[in-house]
Amino acid sequence: MKVILFGATGMVGQGVLRECLLDPGIESVLAIGRSPTGGRQPKLHEILHQDFTDYSDIEPQLTGYDACFFCLGVSSVGMAEERYRHLTYDVTLAAAKTLSRLNPQMVFVYVTGRGTDSTEHGRLMWARVKGKTENDLLKLPFKAAYMFRPAGIQPLHGIRSKTAWVQAIYVGAAPLLSLLNRVAPACMTTTEQVGRAMIKVAREGYPKAVLESEDINRL
Ligand SMILES: NC(=O)c1ccc[n+]([C@@H]2O[C@H](COP(=O)([O-])OP(=O)(O)OC[C@H]3O[C@@H](n4cnc5c(N)ncnc54)[C@H](OP(=O)(O)O)[C@@H]3O)[C@@H](O)[C@H]2O)c1
Repeated sequence: MKVILFGATGMVGQGVLRECLLDPGIESVLAIGRSPTGGRQPKLHEILHQDFTDYSDIEPQLTGYDACFFCLGVSSVGMAEERYRHLTYDVTLAAAKTLSRLNPQMVFVYVTGRGTDSTEHGRLMWARVKGKTENDLLKLPFKAAYMFRPAGIQPLHGIRSKTAWVQAIYVGAAPLLSLLNRVAPACMTTTEQVGRAMIKVAREGYPKAVLESEDINRL
């Protein structure tokens, strides 16, 4: 498989990148981001990009891919709805529309979160915005699209969150999170499990388009 990865410098994306680089069935990974990953591997290629609503200048480099793992995302904490909607809905759909046009055989995997609101009308702002993003992604003409809704994600293998308060929680609660991962798979997964599950659904498919934490851990 040839894979495009967004958000490769983030906590989830670093985990997905690690698993992609380790997987012998993945021929190449193209990381598209505003900052470099710092990785040096023969099968890792990178495009530094600035406007995440417009890919017209790099379109020729975005064809011939089998899967896109879209791990770019922000926390809604302290953010106005308009800004959160732009960074979540506008940015994700801009990339997905371009990629579905250029790669109709592509499988697109998007990370939202547990509690995402498919009705788009609930009380929680972040959940409504993620719900609309999921719903509109599922309408695009990809070969298949999968929405990953993890609850907590424990970073493994030295991976760090870009968000300071998230990182502080994960460091402080590490022993508890490992225990939760074993006894409550509905609440906790790991960066390794998320990465491996994305690769597996891209390769083999899955009976459901929306995957909760249990589905991710089962894969
Ligand atoms: N962490 C969790 O426990 C958890 C749980 C459930 C769901 N999720 C979801 O997973 C997704 C990723 O979360 P994360 O924890 O990996 O976040 P993170 O560590 O903060 O990383 C965010 C990633 O998105 C990129 N990004 C953020 N704003 C950007 C912008 N304006 N333009 C371009 N790139 C931008 C960052 O790039 P830079 O390196 O350039 O900043 C980074 O690669 C989010 O949608 C989040 O809601 C996370």
